[in-house]
Amino acid sequence: MDCLFVGQNIIALSSVDSTNNYLINLSQNVNLVEGTVVVANQQTAGKGQRTNNWHSESGKSLCVSILLTPKLDVNCQFTFNKFIALSLCQALQTYGISAKIKWPNDIFIDFKKVAGILIENTIRANKIDKSVVGIGVNVNNSLNSIPQATSLEQCLEITPSLSELLEVICEKIEKNYLIFKKQPFLVNELYHKNLFKIGEVQLFSRNNKSFEGIIQSVNENGQLVVEVNGHAEFYSMGEVKFMI
Ligand code: BTN
Repeated sequence: MDCLFVGQNIIALSSVDSTNNYLINLSQNVNLVEGTVVVANQQTAGKGQRTNNWHSESGKSLCVSILLTPKLDVNCQFTFNKFIALSLCQALQTYGISAKIKWPNDIFIDFKKVAGILIENTIRANKIDKSVVGIGVNVNNSLNSIPQATSLEQCLEITPSLSELLEVICEKIEKNYLIFKKQPFLVNELYHKNLFKIGEVQLFSRNNKSFEGIIQSVNENGQLVVEVNGHAEFYSMGEVKFMI
C-alpha cells in the first residue's frame, strides 16, 4: 500500500458486530496509531446513519473502519465529512465509474447507492479528538431485496477484490487528509464538483409534501442549500428527502 500511515496497522476480523463499535472500544483501551484500520469479512450488526442498520453479505461487501485523530475544531466536523466522502468517491472513480456524492455523504452510481459512510467522533475540549470513519461498499452483493442500492459488480466487468479496494480507499484518504489540513477550501471545491445533482432541478419531499428546487451547495454546517422559488433554503440532515 502506497501510504505512510493510513492502513499501516490493519486488524482483520472474520466476523464482528460492527467494525465501528470494535474500533471505538479498542481505541478506548489501547493506544492505537493514527490510520489503524479494522476490516471485517462479516458484520452481524452493521450500523448505518441515523440509527439505521447496514446490511452486508459475508465476503461480498467491504466493511471497514479507520481511526483518524485530526484534533480539529468541532466547527470543522462537516468539512471533515466532506473530505471522507470525496476520498471514497474518488476511490470508486479510479475504476472508471461515474460515482457521485449524494448529500450528505452517500456514494451513488447513477441513481442508486453503492456505498455509505458513518463517522463517529469523540469530542474533547471543542476538538475532534478521535474520529472513527466507517465505510461500507457493496462490491458483489446480491441486492434483489434492496432496489435502491447497487454494487460495483453491477457496473464493472471485473470487480476489484476487497483488499485491493481497501488499498485504493486508504490511499485516497491519506492523500486528501494532507490537502484537507492545508487547503480545506480545495476539499470543499472538489466535494461540490462531485456532488450529485448540483445545479440541477430536483424533486424533494418534506413532511409528505413534494417541491422542486435547484441544489446550490452544502454549507459548512452540512446543510443542503437549495434554491426554491428564487430564494435559498437550508435543510439539515434528514429534513428533506430526494425523490428519486
Ligand atoms: C449509511 O449509509 O447509512 C452508513 C453506512 C456505514 C456502514 C459501515 S460498514 C463499516 C462500518 N461499521 C458499521 O457498523 N458501519 C460502518
